[in-house]
Amino acid sequence: MSSQEGPDIERESLLELFPGRAALQGDELVIGGVAASALAEQFDTPALIIDEEALRARAQRYREGFAQRWPNSRVIWASKSLPCTALYRVMHEQGLGIDVAGGGELAMALRAGADPSTFVLHGNAKSDRELAMAVEAGVGTVVIDNFDDIDRLERLVRGEQAVLVRVLPSVSADTHDAISTGHANSKFGLSMSDARRAIDRLRASDTLRLDGLHFHVGSQILDTAPFTRAIEAVAQLGDFAVYDLGGGLGARYTYDMRVPSIEEYLDALVGAAREHLPSSARLLIEPGRSMVAEAAMTLYRVVTVKRNAQRSFVAVDGGMGDNLEVSLYGQAFDATLANRVGRGDSYALVGRHCESGDQLIESVELRDPVVGDLVAVAVTGAYCLTMANNYNGALRPPIIMVRDGHAREVLRRETYDDLLRRDCDVF
Ligand SMILES: Cc1ncc(COP(=O)(O)O)c(C=O)c1O
Repeated sequence: MSSQEGPDIERESLLELFPGRAALQGDELVIGGVAASALAEQFDTPALIIDEEALRARAQRYREGFAQRWPNSRVIWASKSLPCTALYRVMHEQGLGIDVAGGGELAMALRAGADPSTFVLHGNAKSDRELAMAVEAGVGTVVIDNFDDIDRLERLVRGEQAVLVRVLPSVSADTHDAISTGHANSKFGLSMSDARRAIDRLRASDTLRLDGLHFHVGSQILDTAPFTRAIEAVAQLGDFAVYDLGGGLGARYTYDMRVPSIEEYLDALVGAAREHLPSSARLLIEPGRSMVAEAAMTLYRVVTVKRNAQRSFVAVDGGMGDNLEVSLYGQAFDATLANRVGRGDSYALVGRHCESGDQLIESVELRDPVVGDLVAVAVTGAYCLTMANNYNGALRPPIIMVRDGHAREVLRRETYDDLLRRDCDVF
């Protein structure tokens, strides 16, 4: 291998975590046919960049893969992973149903023109107002998380409302505690014995039609066993027309991670369903993270480079204001300079916020970073924009969709006027 080939091969391999047909143009990262520098110039930084083709391709893989394995099925996109009207529209166009948790997500899904009969409403603390809004909008299915949901719905529903009961299958998944939700002590759903009581109550209801069961064991799960164990557990509650198997498949965030493919995940689910569930049942799944994470990246600009004896820092113009995954769950990310793709010395990639915990990546090799360079952090499509905030008065970033060499803004950057708009103090 010549010395020229070595670095080129290494640079090509860095593209692996970037979506779709990410490519190199000289030293520069190109995504959806648009160079990173052009994106930064047109839309400024930080910005969430989504490769629309990659996003649609994942939705299609999920939909077709599930339908081939279990025809009486539907993929429901867990919209909490990236709630933005344009995303709701894309997922609806791709033939997916929508999981909405609460009134805000419901409002966005409706605004996008998605079909409410395909919506599944979630929440462990749904208010009267949110339930009324869902019933009024004609939301297809409401997931019962607690007995108060039943009381509230029975007061509200005049005709008939389909419901599922969220069951805690007592399965723990090997993920961060904050996103593990299927264990016996979770705040979500009902224990097996409480679920039995809820099922009896719903079977006697005049207005609530019990279609079946739901579970969700957690998020960023890298092994199929918790899903199959959960299917086996809920099967003990008897035969139902519908089983919603939740979401939870992990995304591949770093070069050294191994994640089950969509197909491996579906094979495992459907294998367990064939063994434990009625063959006539309708199956639903609710992927969020694994649908959107890998279709996006965040583009930042380097504000300062600090080389210390112990540790060197590259600080960018975003951070925990647009990515809380690191400080909430310790999620590991990977990155490259977007205008000088390649490896070099190790740096801590840190944000601009007033906390030492505001770190995007503990240690990442960057190629000769200088002020003004662009940094692309890969796999930021899920739960980053979702939890974006105004810490230190940060403006929440825009979402840019790229496709076939064109970029369009689907959610604009916040402005200082937006920050001040809610003030109503008179002085
Ligand atoms: C009920 C429910 N369904 C689906 C999901 C989506 O999970 P994931 O994004 O890990 O696929 C969640 C995430 O919290 C959830 O609470």
